Amino acid sequence: MPTPRRELRERPIGVFDSGFGGLTVLRALMDLLPGEDLVYLGDTGRYPYGPRPLDQVRCFARQITGHLVEEFGVKLVVVACNTAAAAALDELRARFSVPIIGVIEPGVTAALRATRNGSVGVIGTVGTISSGAYPRAVAEAGVAPATGAPADLVAAACPGFVEFVERGEVDSDQVHVLAERLLSPLVSADVDTLLLGCTHYPYLARTIGDVMGRDVVLVSSADETAFAVRDHLVATGMARAVGTGDGVKIRAGSLRFLSSGDREWFRSVGQMLFGPELTEVDAVEWGDDLCSDEVAELL
Ligand code: DGL
Repeated sequence: MPTPRRELRERPIGVFDSGFGGLTVLRALMDLLPGEDLVYLGDTGRYPYGPRPLDQVRCFARQITGHLVEEFGVKLVVVACNTAAAAALDELRARFSVPIIGVIEPGVTAALRATRNGSVGVIGTVGTISSGAYPRAVAEAGVAPATGAPADLVAAACPGFVEFVERGEVDSDQVHVLAERLLSPLVSADVDTLLLGCTHYPYLARTIGDVMGRDVVLVSSADETAFAVRDHLVATGMARAVGTGDGVKIRAGSLRFLSSGDREWFRSVGQMLFGPELTEVDAVEWGDDLCSDEVAELL
């Protein structure tokens, strides 16, 4: 018998990333959907995803989504990781019956809306950029409203950025030097909008903004993804009621954090990046399973 909608509505939303990056999306979900219970899984035991073969990342995404569905009965999964979305979104949608929302299309929508001259940059991990997911999403999205023409997309991989964020090092001289080197093709291309195609990168926004210059608008997919989640929940009658106090919305939903790596590390760096709500972290264990068969099959 199908689960009654009333019961489904009360279930949590699952959100995952390789580590801390998806917390940028979690924050936007908390702000927009204060009534929802949220379960966040950071796969810090296996980060970074960016340099790994996409087949292996797909296997991780399958495992994590299965865990969120089976252990937490989530009503919807947000793939808050561009690399995992590039590798696995279609497969997850085919395999699981819960709705799956990624970060790539929402980010592209926001970037096309922001550009004035139609020249858009996108930066991401090696996995995301080499997958071609962004040029595909831009082609599918149609024209930029300001120009009435398809956007010109300049893409660059930024290996190393994620590792800085995972160490909690977001505005050191070293990350600045790396940013100057990696972003120089985008500076030369005169983009007026830069899409942060990795959910870790908003934590580097000050450094990236300094290098790109003040005229370039930095776009993160976090808010637009939260809008996509809200629209889906409202359209399907699955949104949870929002609490109010004196007519003001109050946060009534719960937060739960899981990490596959060192929990104390996740708590301390996560709290620095995300804020004081990250107080407790539960463990999630995959055993020895690094989805290595997926990689072995490729060799
Ligand atoms: N936040 C992930 C993304 O959006 C980072 C990937 C990684 O672990 O390299 O792509």
